[in-house]
Amino acid sequence: MMVPQSPTATQRPDAFMRARGRAMNPRVQNWQGLRVWVIGASTGIGAETARLLLAKGARVALSARNTAALEDVAGGNTQALVLPLDITVHAEVAAAHERLLSAWQGVDLVLIVAGAYVEMRADHLDMKVIDKILDVNLRGAFHCLETVLPTLIAQGQGGIGIVSSVAGLSGLPKALVYGPTKAALINLCESLYFDLSPRGLGIYLINPGFVETPATAGNTFAMPGLISAERAAAEILSGIERGRFHIHFPKRFTNWLRFARLLPYRWYFSLIHKVTGL
Ligand SMILES: NC(=O)c1ccc[n+]([C@@H]2O[C@H](COP(=O)([O-])OP(=O)(O)OC[C@H]3O[C@@H](n4cnc5c(N)ncnc54)[C@H](OP(=O)(O)O)[C@@H]3O)[C@@H](O)[C@H]2O)c1
Repeated sequence: MMVPQSPTATQRPDAFMRARGRAMNPRVQNWQGLRVWVIGASTGIGAETARLLLAKGARVALSARNTAALEDVAGGNTQALVLPLDITVHAEVAAAHERLLSAWQGVDLVLIVAGAYVEMRADHLDMKVIDKILDVNLRGAFHCLETVLPTLIAQGQGGIGIVSSVAGLSGLPKALVYGPTKAALINLCESLYFDLSPRGLGIYLINPGFVETPATAGNTFAMPGLISAERAAAEILSGIERGRFHIHFPKRFTNWLRFARLLPYRWYFSLIHKVTGL
């Protein structure tokens, strides 16, 4: 495996600013030339984040299964590198990482955005769907971490952002499988912070509320605080620029849920039932 020495020849020494003040993570002040790998960049939040990064002058590697959609997001930009992969196949993630290192000799920021969402309730458990969600959301994240962490640790500079969800903050109706995978990602980011922060590496926990994307297009229930994927992308990059650990949005919705989860269970269940009717 190709692991770059620290620091790499093409690495911008000023790419990340040290954590300072309220910042728990390194801050990005200038995206120009930064090497960012967006995994899950073909549609929705990942696609808009990749587009915004390209617009800000970053070099962006775009990964997901749908190559044509990735090419479309890349839009012929010479700063873009299309690296198709299936996140559930470790060998494909590792091969894409090798290609990325050959092209860039290192990576500054890895954003794990890929995710699968399917509603599920206790009377309709389906092992095929359960395995798929666990594979994409959880095992997929570990495939990426196992692949990129040696590179980031050897560089001694850079960061990882993992897109979880506010559905991982506490149990919600219809999120019987999706919710636990997202709760695990929140726990994973918290655990990673202990290992990565002392090494000067950033770990950004990203918890969106409802975002208008293909994943939510089929939702039949009301989605309070729904925002566009463009707005979600701007929130993610702004959170990283400020060196936040917990990047959550839109605040009017996510803060409400963060408060609700602090309530005693009796009140929590009653409140969520009242609000959702479920
Ligand atoms: N939308 C929301 O309201 C919301 C709220 C909270 C959190 N999130 C999270 O945000 C992330 C992005 O979701 P989204 O709403 O933007 O959904 P989306 O438009 O469906 O995007 C999902 C992305 O994941 C990729 N993906 C799925 N399975 C994959 C696989 N096996 N290998 C590689 N890539 C795979 C898809 O690409 P391919 O199909 O081309 O592989 C696509 O790029 C997810 O982690 C989701 O859980 C979304």
